[in-house]
Amino acid sequence: MADIRFAPRAESLLGSATLQITARAAELKASGRDIVSLSAGQPDFPSPPAAIEAAEKAMREGRTGYTANAGLPELRKAVARKWGTLHGVFDDPACVLVSCGAKHSIANLMEAVVCEGDRILIPRPWWVSYPEMVKRLGGVPVAGESNHLTASEVRHAASEGARGMIFNSPSNPTGRVHSEKEISEIADAIADSGMWVISDDIYEFLHYGDKPVPHLLRARPDLAPRLAVVTGVSKTWSMTGWRIGFALADPKWTAMAGRIQSHTTSNAPTMCQYGSLAVVEGRAEKERLEMLSAFHARRDLMCSLLSQDERLSFPEPLGAFYVFVDLTKACGKLDTAAFCISLLEEEGLALIPGSAFGAEGCVRLSFAASNSDIEKGVKRLRDFISGRV
Ligand SMILES: Cc1ncc(COP(=O)(O)O)c(C=O)c1O
Repeated sequence: MADIRFAPRAESLLGSATLQITARAAELKASGRDIVSLSAGQPDFPSPPAAIEAAEKAMREGRTGYTANAGLPELRKAVARKWGTLHGVFDDPACVLVSCGAKHSIANLMEAVVCEGDRILIPRPWWVSYPEMVKRLGGVPVAGESNHLTASEVRHAASEGARGMIFNSPSNPTGRVHSEKEISEIADAIADSGMWVISDDIYEFLHYGDKPVPHLLRARPDLAPRLAVVTGVSKTWSMTGWRIGFALADPKWTAMAGRIQSHTTSNAPTMCQYGSLAVVEGRAEKERLEMLSAFHARRDLMCSLLSQDERLSFPEPLGAFYVFVDLTKACGKLDTAAFCISLLEEEGLALIPGSAFGAEGCVRLSFAASNSDIEKGVKRLRDFISGRV
């Protein structure tokens, strides 16, 4: 029988580089090896009891059927209230689309605006899904030049015909947060360019500064007609498996994205929407703040251990739960995918290679791990590097 012919566009998509490392780490662990994993992209805390109780109650009471495609009306209302207050726009439930995780929110929003051949600016280093999501729609991802997107990169991309861009602060993988000044300059550049923007704010509340994360919308509220905010419950409330994400945008954009969703997944899982409503309404603030302060302490621990080794350099992570370490001073030119495989096989430490994020020479360490794993992990990294030189 003839082989199935796959669509060239699907064939051009890369699989997740992070999965290769995590799968191998799990295999080695199962075989009895002592493996330390600093590769996690999710909080290592249980989901808040308020979410679990609300989801359970919904199921016991028989609220297990479809909801409206765009989400439970009370959840859309609560999301519009919370983020509408934060940003000063999008306070109408019509601005809100509830989807199956923030990744799905981004995919729906993009599908509504990316046309064949469109150049789309993505930040460097990028979250692994951005370029593949753009390519999936026939668009052309164009990466920023520096490792921290600047206004001049936005202006340059616009001058070369970019139609839209993705913005991500706090960033995965660097944990960097753009300052008020940088945000204001980038917002001006976007306003001048006419590009649409998806602001991926999934780490917005995992922030170690004392003021809220600076936001493009607060710098330039007039961007609202072509700026979409993406957020969700995954990271803030440790609910990654619930698969609930929120898009907030002009109702024309959310309606179009909702139409796309109505022909793919339909509504996000009903019981998960009820659980999410509980946390969005503020019934898990205690757990959220406890988790944030644990992450803050772990960030300080990881950064202080790493800075004892002058061969390692990294930008201070002000948000998320990652440190993005540059190894070029220690190791010279490096194939980080091969480096991470050897590090795992020989030293028993799982990290994510910078190549997965478009930043060869770097590795991502996650501090969504216990203090003892952080201590062991940094030691293993340093020992491994010492053994190579
Ligand atoms: C930058 C960024 N955006 C979006 C997501 C997706 O979030 P969700 O699990 O809600 O789909 C992630 C998850 O790792 C992420 O790191």
